[in-house]
Amino acid sequence: MPERWTPDSWRKKPVMQVPDYPDLQALADVEKQLATFPPLVFAGEARNLKKQLARVANGEAFLLQGGDCAESFAEHGANNIRDFFRMFLQMAVVLTYAAASPVVKVGRIAGQFAKPRSSPMEKRDGKELPSYRGDIINDIAFTDEARRPDPRRQVEAYRQSAATLNLLRAFAQGGYANLASVRQWMLGFVKDSPQSRAYVELSDRISEALGFMQACGLDLESHPELRTTEFYTSHEALLLGYEEAFTRIDSTTGDWYATSGHMIWIGDRTRQFDHAHIEYARGIKNPIGLKCGPSLKPDDLLRLIDALNPDNEAGRLTLIGRFGADKVGDHLPALVRAVKREGRVVLWSCDPMHGNTITSASGYKTRPFDLILKEVRAFFDVHQAEGTYAGGVHLEMTGANVTECTGGARAISDADLNDRYHTVCDPRLNAEQAIDLAFLLAELLKKERIAHAKPLSAVAGL
Ligand code: TRP
Ligand code: MN
Repeated sequence: MPERWTPDSWRKKPVMQVPDYPDLQALADVEKQLATFPPLVFAGEARNLKKQLARVANGEAFLLQGGDCAESFAEHGANNIRDFFRMFLQMAVVLTYAAASPVVKVGRIAGQFAKPRSSPMEKRDGKELPSYRGDIINDIAFTDEARRPDPRRQVEAYRQSAATLNLLRAFAQGGYANLASVRQWMLGFVKDSPQSRAYVELSDRISEALGFMQACGLDLESHPELRTTEFYTSHEALLLGYEEAFTRIDSTTGDWYATSGHMIWIGDRTRQFDHAHIEYARGIKNPIGLKCGPSLKPDDLLRLIDALNPDNEAGRLTLIGRFGADKVGDHLPALVRAVKREGRVVLWSCDPMHGNTITSASGYKTRPFDLILKEVRAFFDVHQAEGTYAGGVHLEMTGANVTECTGGARAISDADLNDRYHTVCDPRLNAEQAIDLAFLLAELLKKERIAHAKPLSAVAGL
């Protein structure tokens, strides 16, 4: 791509998945207004995240990325954010302790509002309306009025993102994430679950370890890393007009950054090499994710890497595979080999959600927990076989006690889905299923780290 990049150069390229706004003047007015709003994140934070992701690419840490498929205006509130955050902390602490690996924490949150759709129109009982594209674009109700794309929703999405991020920052830095509270992060309904015993045991061991260090004379209060954590935000950069409005020059480096979130990713449906979404992403300096589905060929991937990470910078590019439990073994190895052969530094992450979506007998869109586990295991197997790192996971999950994915320790059945099926988009793991998965991941990660471990003599330089 020889042409000059500007925040709006994507507008000259073919673009997929754009809403059909009826009033283009109103859209332009909103975009102009958004461009005057303060950024949500600071470029220095995006650079820190990139450094952390570079460690993951080197096998020194693990990436935990997850959250709602789509955030919703209706479910926005302090309790939901808190429940999400404490579930996330529980997963992170399980991984950190059981696998003895630092965990880079990235939420699909504070900006995850726009959804790509397989069809621009939806038909119900003979009536046809524009598809729901996420709360930043239109409303899920099946009426003409609700489905009409309304640009003012972008202002509301910004407001909600700012409020969510503000609370997350407070939780992460203000004491909620203190390791001394590890026991209190247990969610009420998780307490009597089969995993809760394992979690209680783990939190007891952490408390013991902290007590031991204190008894040895270590002043825990003087170690902020025990009391706080770094939490980053991410979303799919789908609605490019919104992203453009928040694309700002960082005054300390003179570089362009997306300031709508720390990390953005490009979806599997909008990753055409010469199209608008790749054009936008190539010019910003944030860490970028690229979703990789079964249709991606090794040569296409290498071309995309050339465009998105021409300087081969570690931490810049996270490749998020979403193949399906039965396909990952067929598709991932060729991609991993091509990237390795060409000496490209990437972080390999696994999205075990999007390739495992089925329609249940009762008509619900669901994901069997077993298939999710199967894809994660296969992902680790491939990296073990290729001598590369299984760097992270990308999950759709919620702290709420929903019944959207079948299976798990409580064996949620097709008939149970009707109980608490709340998602506005794809089915999410509930807190129990997510923590269950974290224990499994910790085991896989521990094995991987042992397999890669250098002999002590090499470490000690003996
Ligand atoms: N600061 C460290 C980290 O983020 C340790 C830590 C503090 C932590 N609070 C946490 C780890 C909560 C996991 C969850 O890794
Ligand atoms: Mn989804």
